[in-house]
Amino acid sequence: PRSIWLSRHGESTFNLEGKIGGDADISERGEAYARSLPDLVRRCGDGRKLTVWTSTLKRTIQTARFLTFEKLEWKALDELDSGVCDGLTYADIEEQYPEDFKARDEDKYNYRYLGGESYRDVVIRLEPIIMELERSENILIVTHQAILRCIYAYFMNVAQEKSPWMEVPLHTLIKLTPKAYSTHEERLKADI
Ligand code: G3H
Repeated sequence: PRSIWLSRHGESTFNLEGKIGGDADISERGEAYARSLPDLVRRCGDGRKLTVWTSTLKRTIQTARFLTFEKLEWKALDELDSGVCDGLTYADIEEQYPEDFKARDEDKYNYRYLGGESYRDVVIRLEPIIMELERSENILIVTHQAILRCIYAYFMNVAQEKSPWMEVPLHTLIKLTPKAYSTHEERLKADI
């Protein structure tokens, strides 16, 4: 059976500063993850050929760059657009947009950033990705936390309303193998 492999980008300099969004480079630690990724894939793989999908943002492209498989960049895999809050920390948001901060806390799935997106919006823009995934062979997706939460919820048969709380840690490769009635999951943490 075919598998779908999921990975967040390696730690970025924005991750280190606690800032959301943006188009930052990966950090030194992120770089170490990028270098370890080909071996991680080999260790939980079966030698079969993969195609690698990334977003159009630097941190995912940098993370995938040591993988020797064919690669494809998808705009639809870019991180949830945080609109006016792009580049802020959560503390900045709480201070500058207190009502929005509260509204998001109360309904994280439906809350749409000013000039940006909600998780619900992301689920809709991921429809073509999901359709393409359903008719593809082995795909490794290197993308962003919010996006992976929605893709993960889809394959694990979890209601999309729960996607904002799915656990998708950094520097961990997730391998999903869809079976007839459920999806088999393996997680491999990078030793970095
Ligand atoms: O940078 C944004 C995160 O990937 C999404 O995190 O939806 O839990 O705020 P959040």
